Amino acid sequence: MAFQQRVFSGVQPTGNLHLGNYLGAIQRFVALQDSYDCLYCVVDMHAITVWQDPAELKKQIREVTAAFIAAGIDPAKHIVFNQSQVSGHAELAWVFNCVARLGWLNRMTQFKEKAGKDRENASVGLYAYPNLMAADILLYRATHVPVGEDQKQHLELARDIAQKFNNDFGPSMTALGLEGTFFPQPEPLIGGPAARVMSLRDGSKKMSKSDPSDLSRINLTDDADTVASKIRKAKTDPEPLPSEAEGLKGRPEAENLVGIYAALADISKEKVLAEFGGGQFSTFKAALVDLSVAKLGPVGSEMKRLVSEPSHIDAILRDGAARARVIADETMRQVKDIVGFVR
Ligand code: TYM
Repeated sequence: MAFQQRVFSGVQPTGNLHLGNYLGAIQRFVALQDSYDCLYCVVDMHAITVWQDPAELKKQIREVTAAFIAAGIDPAKHIVFNQSQVSGHAELAWVFNCVARLGWLNRMTQFKEKAGKDRENASVGLYAYPNLMAADILLYRATHVPVGEDQKQHLELARDIAQKFNNDFGPSMTALGLEGTFFPQPEPLIGGPAARVMSLRDGSKKMSKSDPSDLSRINLTDDADTVASKIRKAKTDPEPLPSEAEGLKGRPEAENLVGIYAALADISKEKVLAEFGGGQFSTFKAALVDLSVAKLGPVGSEMKRLVSEPSHIDAILRDGAARARVIADETMRQVKDIVGFVR
């Protein structure tokens, strides 16, 4: 069966959005708008798999929505909404809880990282998180999913769930006259020079919202002085920059900064090195500060303007949810028939 090409992706409203979220995901969401029908979701149900202060959660949902729009996502042409307003996410996740196997979830590295040593005390939601993520994507039978490198394993699980559902319920689909496969195999769109942006303090750790050091990341709402000082303090090594990408091997901090520059300028790492190779980090860092401030400054200030009008943001989310529900309800109607529920 030929599936309609459709993009789905989500971002958790759990704290400051940073350069990794922007370059690995949001900037790429913007670029895909010309070629696909897109749904971009603020995944608030994923957020509560770890404790969130309710008032803070509301604020963060609006802030991520503002970031989408400030970055250039058009909520009139595409669908921007928050997950909890479309009940199909929870309904399909339950069905997938019954399709996915414990052994599959036991392999998820992100659960192990997030639960840490105190596994017994992690929420059941955190464990079942990847099933909800598969439901997000497959509720819209999305074919393409732009994400950063860290989501790769979750995407593989979503593909396995889609396949097992199609196999388990194959005869039921045939009996209902549904031809071929019901769920597509969603394809991850991971790549470019910033698929994994690393911490500015340690090139072996990814840039993350949960890093205790604010110097490790550039937040989308940081002002120009803060961005400049974080880049100036970013860890480097004593060698000058190499002239070719090959020379970045074994130099994670240098590779990271060159990757950030390349992604912000929308050029290859080779091109960055053709310009800055052989030079000192101080020269390169000064250029990186200028580029970062020029690119991120307008996004940050537009975000701040948008969050000062929460009723406008809420209206966008309600409208997006209503349009998402049209697709979701149709999928759930069919899923219920396939599974054998009476409706
Ligand atoms: P989240 O909220 O942690 O991150 C949002 C997006 O940002 C990407 N990202 C990065 N990319 C490059 N370098 C980094 N250092 C970096 N840090 C984060 C993430 O890969 C992601 O694309 N489980 C997802 C949210 C989700 C989702 C979905 C995504 C829920 N349902 C369905 C796609 C489809 C998450 O926690 O992303």
